[in-house]
Amino acid sequence: MLRLPQRDLRCHQCALRLSCCVNAGDNGIALIGFMGAGKSAVGRELSRRTGWPRHDTDEMIRAQFGISIPDIFARHGELAFRDAETTLLKTLQPGLGGIVVTGGGIVLREENVRLLRRMGRIIWLDADEEILWQRASRHSTRPLLQTPDPRARFAELLRERLPLYQTATDYRINTSSSSIAEVTDEIISLL
Ligand code: S3P
Repeated sequence: MLRLPQRDLRCHQCALRLSCCVNAGDNGIALIGFMGAGKSAVGRELSRRTGWPRHDTDEMIRAQFGISIPDIFARHGELAFRDAETTLLKTLQPGLGGIVVTGGGIVLREENVRLLRRMGRIIWLDADEEILWQRASRHSTRPLLQTPDPRARFAELLRERLPLYQTATDYRINTSSSSIAEVTDEIISLL
């Protein structure tokens, strides 16, 4: 079984060692954050650098349905996608180890956050709103932004979700002015 070295990862809220306060005994990492935070890219780089397995919920759900995420939303509805997220998290065994990369809406269900906690420490990749928007809108096929005013919808979703990320996370990283390699370095330095 993969074991993360138990070093000095600290909770950004209480500054205690995470292994003591939040997720005692876990051995994995879950990346959460809004669209454009860089979760997928950092997850891939982290996996490459550490050799840990990567479990990307969006990728796995796409594979299950055999169609793209916009098509899942269009044909089956958002609820089916959200249910698939929860069902998938339930199939990930606690102690599986590695890196769980999540979609931006994973924090919408408290149950998902509880399931992620079983997998390990939850790291929130965050960035300034304008930077998130620039990244997310670059090649956006994101179904939630297929609206007449995607920028306004983006801001609204971000406002709704910030407290959820805040509550869910063990450690927050601002990626606004960092490269993928730098964010990965920061995570590795915490392990
Ligand atoms: C979603 C974000 C997407 C994907 C789906 C829903 C969201 O993932 O899971 O389109 O609700 O914010 P990214 O965060 O990788 O864009």
